[in-house]
Amino acid sequence: MVRCSIGRVRARGNRVRPCFTYAATALALVALALAPACGTIEPEVGERLSACVDADSNPAVKVSFKDQIRPIMAGKVPGPTPCGMCHSPVAGTMEGFNATGFDIRKLASVRKGGRNTSDDIIVPGKPCESAIVQKLKGTYGGARMPKGGPYWNAEQLQLMIDWIAEGASGADDE
Ligand code: HEC
Repeated sequence: MVRCSIGRVRARGNRVRPCFTYAATALALVALALAPACGTIEPEVGERLSACVDADSNPAVKVSFKDQIRPIMAGKVPGPTPCGMCHSPVAGTMEGFNATGFDIRKLASVRKGGRNTSDDIIVPGKPCESAIVQKLKGTYGGARMPKGGPYWNAEQLQLMIDWIAEGASGADDE
C-alpha cells in the first residue's frame, strides 16, 4: 500500500512521504511509457496526416489525371520532389523502383502498384483505402512520399483524393 500524507509530512520516523513525490514519480513513468510512441514520428518518415475523408470535395468539377496529377508527379509543378526521380526503372536513382517495383511512368503501371501495395494502390471511389493516398500522407507505413520531401501540399493531396473519389479514370498511357 502506498502511504502518503497530503500537506503535512510526519517528521518522526520519516516513513510517510508527501503525496506529490508519488505523483511526480507516476508522471515520470507515464512520460517514459509515452516516449516510444512519440518516437515513431521520425523526420525521414515525414509528418503523418491521418485524417481522411472519402468524399469528393468538388463533385461539380472532374479532376484529370493527365492534366492535374501527372504534372505534380513529374515535377512540373514547383515544390514536391518528382516521383519519377525514384520510381522509374530507366531514370533517376531508381531507389523506390528497386525497393518495391512501383513504376510511376504510365497510369497503367501506377495502377499495378508495387510489391506491398499491389491492388490496394488505387481503390476507385475509396481514396482513404488507396495506398497511394496513404503513402502521400505518411499513414501506410514506411516513408511518406515523396521520400524525404518536400511533400504534396493540402491542395495537391485533395486533387489525388478527388480523382480517386470520382472513380480514378484515365487512359493507360497517361
Ligand atoms: C527519394 C526517392 C523517392 C521519391 C522521390 C519517391 N519515392 Fe516512393 N518510395 C521510395 C522508396 C525507397 C520506397 C520503399 C520504402 C518505403 O515504402 O518507404 C518507396 C515506396 C513507395 C510506395 C510503396 C510501393 C509498395 O508497393 O511498397 C509507393 C506507393 C510510393 N513510393 C509512391 C511514391 C509517389 C506517389 C511518389 C511521388 C509523389 C514517390 N513515391 C516518390 C522512394 C521514393
